[in-house]
Amino acid sequence: MPRTDPADLPLERKAALLSGRDFWSTEPVDEADVPSIVLSDGPHGIRLQKGEADHMGVHASLPATCFPPAVAIGSSWDVEAAARLGAAIGREARALGVDVVLGPGVNIKRSPLCGRNFEYYSEDPLLSGVLAAAHVDALQGEGPGASVKHFAANDQETDRMRVSADVDERTLREIHLSAFERVVTDARPATVMSSYNRINGVPASQNRWLLTEVLREEWGFGGAVVSDWGGVYDRVAALAAGLDLQMPGDGGDGDAAVVRAVRSGELDEAAVDASARRVADLTGRRAREKRAFDTDAHHVLARELAASCAVLLKNDGAVLPIGADVRRIAVIGEFAAVPRYQGSGSSHINPTRVDVPLEAIEALAADRGQDVTYARGFALDGDGDGTGLRQEAVRAAGESDIAVVFLGPVKDASEGFDRADIDLPAEQVGLVRAVAAAAPRTAVVLSNGGVVSLEGFHDDVDAILEGWLLGQAGGGAVADLLFGVAVPSGRLAETIPLRLQDTPSHLNFPGEQGHVRYGEGVMVGYRYYETADRAVRYPFGHGLSYTTFATGDMDVAMTGEDTATATVTVTNTGERAGGHVVQVYVATTAGPVRRPARELRAFTKVFLEPGESRTVELPLDRRAFAYYDVELGRWAVAPGDYTVQIGENAARVVAERTIALAGDTVATSLSLDSPVAEWFGHPVVGPVLTRSIGEGMTDEQRRESEKHADMLDMVASLPMRQFLAFVSVSAADIEAMIELSEQAPTPAPA
Ligand code: BGC
Repeated sequence: MPRTDPADLPLERKAALLSGRDFWSTEPVDEADVPSIVLSDGPHGIRLQKGEADHMGVHASLPATCFPPAVAIGSSWDVEAAARLGAAIGREARALGVDVVLGPGVNIKRSPLCGRNFEYYSEDPLLSGVLAAAHVDALQGEGPGASVKHFAANDQETDRMRVSADVDERTLREIHLSAFERVVTDARPATVMSSYNRINGVPASQNRWLLTEVLREEWGFGGAVVSDWGGVYDRVAALAAGLDLQMPGDGGDGDAAVVRAVRSGELDEAAVDASARRVADLTGRRAREKRAFDTDAHHVLARELAASCAVLLKNDGAVLPIGADVRRIAVIGEFAAVPRYQGSGSSHINPTRVDVPLEAIEALAADRGQDVTYARGFALDGDGDGTGLRQEAVRAAGESDIAVVFLGPVKDASEGFDRADIDLPAEQVGLVRAVAAAAPRTAVVLSNGGVVSLEGFHDDVDAILEGWLLGQAGGGAVADLLFGVAVPSGRLAETIPLRLQDTPSHLNFPGEQGHVRYGEGVMVGYRYYETADRAVRYPFGHGLSYTTFATGDMDVAMTGEDTATATVTVTNTGERAGGHVVQVYVATTAGPVRRPARELRAFTKVFLEPGESRTVELPLDRRAFAYYDVELGRWAVAPGDYTVQIGENAARVVAERTIALAGDTVATSLSLDSPVAEWFGHPVVGPVLTRSIGEGMTDEQRRESEKHADMLDMVASLPMRQFLAFVSVSAADIEAMIELSEQAPTPAPA
């Protein structure tokens, strides 16, 4: 039966489409053949609640696979891994009857303290956007829709429903909106979820500039905008701004306000029609038939994905993988027996099963005839005899050939609050140092949703494996990595600083009196550390392997006016198969704005057998060279030199080539308020002005002005209006020059 256009429904009925029927589903409208659809979290697995509902992960949900959260997938730098994860979540959604999955989250990690950093990929928007686009594309390929969230600048939990993120437009465009833009334009998500916070004073859910001008008009988004749960503060203003679906339902209050606003003439009915159509279109995402998912296969997949995410930070003396020479292994730390593999809040999954690292280690050790001793080392709940636990651990370490110590914060990553610091508990730091002093070799495995400081023990231990939160099969994956069944290939998606005080947002996080000022601007993460030349413990992009890779010379070929392709050959020079991430950065000082020392502009992960070489091509589009020009109100490529770099990480460049770009031509118009320097610097008007001033001078004046050429520096900032008092140029000539500047195409500001 053909569906009735929802716009033809009576006002009350179409308004009913615009808010939830309950916590997790939309209102069905039978007259228009619009059934109810089900929305459910989330980013790394399905949290479908059949009983009591909540948006903080408090009440039970049906079993589903808990895949590695975004903090881990970000570190995989693996588009294929992100896609396999997205597809698996799509299959589980289909099986469980979920039509729209609330994820992935692509907010940027501007501070290591954000409680939800474990749900986000990276401090870099390109890495976040590319991985999320692959996730969404694959998820939607299975049928259900995705909801990319939280749009936008929702980078902290403190005061999240009220705080105003005060951000300049260039920073928004280049850093905080950029990943959303990529997902929207490349993967066409069914929905975008607006965030709780305000942006420059206006709630995201009522922000017309964000939801309509940028999202729909500029990026061409054709799906529905859904609110975060409880994130609509003024239903009518939100609808007028472009927010289609209010979730959860509020018992009809919002719909009634919409109806009243249309009747009073405050709201154009066309806004209701457009939103009703977009919500009705979501029914295209409904499952036609339910297909069961294979829990075993998804657990195996979760283990494989997890292994590609962990980052080997340090491996002195190649103590890992644990070799055949090792007879006795001491496994220490409660996280080995009680794994931490996901964070808290709305993304919390009821896992189908959980791999315990200790058991997985015992299984692999048994295959190799190695003994395993476990010592708890510390008590997560603070109970027990701390001294006794430590003594037992040190004894086990002393009797072993290698100690593997599992560490992590006691209170870890969660929605709803931010962390106060990045330190591990002093008790754990003391333990690992004591263990390292007793054991011949020590490897640390970290389980943490947000960056932790390594400073208390870094130099005492031989190896550190950053396991982040690896999902329900993380325990198995860690064992695979420790024994070399899998080879580490993760790279840091966020910098590990030396101190919290070094982080660029430190003085502006989490804000005060209802405002958080994004004072670091575009200098987020490595952009800041590299530009300010500040030492870090491990840079963005860092990660070791059990094999080694060599990068050959790079070639950069122009493919268009302001586009290029970088070509480079990578060789596996070690003795094991492994994955390597080719990272392409662009460095420039071109343009009128301060550019970061370098920015990630392309990457790819290659898997190579020992001795194998592969030549990879990485295209760089215009955006790879552009900055957002707030005066022009658009992206611009400034004419100038651009150095394309292959980085082993953000701090170490291994190959580079400089290219010159013609850049954009624009008409830079001058006015009487433009400073003198701009007038003289204008490529077309500058020479005309110089000539005109010269013509109006006597010979003596000319000689004098040549003697005082540096006078120009003193008046450089003077508006032309005032400068005219010192020179004799006619008002008509100035007027003509202003007109000339308005017409003449000139290179973009340089
Ligand atoms: C979170 C969203 C989530 C929603 C529904 C909110 O608290 O911010 O990420 O999708 O709840 O659970």
